[in-house]
Amino acid sequence: MADFRKPILEGKGGTDYERYLRTDDLLSLQTPTDQLSHPDELTFQVIHQSSELLMKGASWELERARTALSEGDYANCARLFRRGNMMLEHPLSLLKVLETITPYDYHVIRAGLGHGSGLDSPGFLSLLHIAPRIGDAFQERLKAEGLTVDDVYRRHQHYFGLHDVAERMLDFDELIQGFRFHHLKLAQRIIGGGVLGTMGTPVEVLQQRMQHLAFRELWELRNRITEKFSPKETVDDTR
Ligand code: HEM
Repeated sequence: MADFRKPILEGKGGTDYERYLRTDDLLSLQTPTDQLSHPDELTFQVIHQSSELLMKGASWELERARTALSEGDYANCARLFRRGNMMLEHPLSLLKVLETITPYDYHVIRAGLGHGSGLDSPGFLSLLHIAPRIGDAFQERLKAEGLTVDDVYRRHQHYFGLHDVAERMLDFDELIQGFRFHHLKLAQRIIGGGVLGTMGTPVEVLQQRMQHLAFRELWELRNRITEKFSPKETVDDTR
C-alpha cells in the first residue's frame, strides 16, 4: 500500500504541501525576525506581500474575464470577474490591519523604505492596465450586438449576460475606489494628509486619484436614466 505520508513531488521541503506551495521560498521573503527595524515591520511586510499576491490573482482572473468577454462568453466573463473582484476585497480590508500601527512606530519602519512606494505596486498597476481593456472589449461587444448600454439596462432581463458583466465592472470600480478611500485614510492616519510620500507625491494627490473611475460611462448612465424619469433632479454625482 502507498505510504501517503511520503512526498511524491519534486521540490524543497519534507512534505508535498511544502513542495507544491513552495512554502520555504514564500516564508523566507520577509525580513528575519531578529533583523526587523521594529517588531511591527513583519506585519507591514506580510500585509503588503499578501495584497500583492491577491492583486496578482485578481488581475489574472480579470484578464481571463476579458478574453471571455471578447469571445461573447458573458457567463464565464461574469463568473471570472466575480472571482477577481472577490480577491480584491481582501487588500481593502487588510489596510485596516495597518491602521493598528501608530505613527512613531511607523516612522522607524519608514526610514528603511527608501523611495519605495505603492505607486510602483505591480499588482495595482496591472489592475489599472487591465480595466480600460475590459472597457474596450465591452464596447466592442455592444457594437457587435448592435446595442447601446442603455438597451442593456432597459432590457436587462433580455440581455442578462451583458448586464451581469456591466454590473461586475461597476463592482470593480467600487472596489478600487474603496481601496483608494481606505488607503487615503490609512495614510492620513499614519503620516498625515499634508505631507509628501516616500516617492515625493503629496498625500492630497491620493484624494484626487480617488475620483478616477475605469467605467465612467456605466455610472453616467444612471444619471441619464434618472433624467428620463425626473429631469429636474439630476446633478453630476459620478465623482
Ligand atoms: C502604513 C501604510 C501605508 C502608508 C503610510 C502609505 C502611504 C502612501 C502614500 C503617501 C502614497 C503616495 C505615493 C508616495 O509614496 O509618494 C501611496 C501610494 C500608494 N500606496 Fe500606499 N501606503 C501604505 C500602505 C499601502 C498598502 C498596504 C498598499 C497595498 C498594496 C498600498 C498601495 C498603494 C498604492 C496602490 C498607491 C498608489 C495609489 C493610487 O494610484 O491611487 N499602500 N501610499
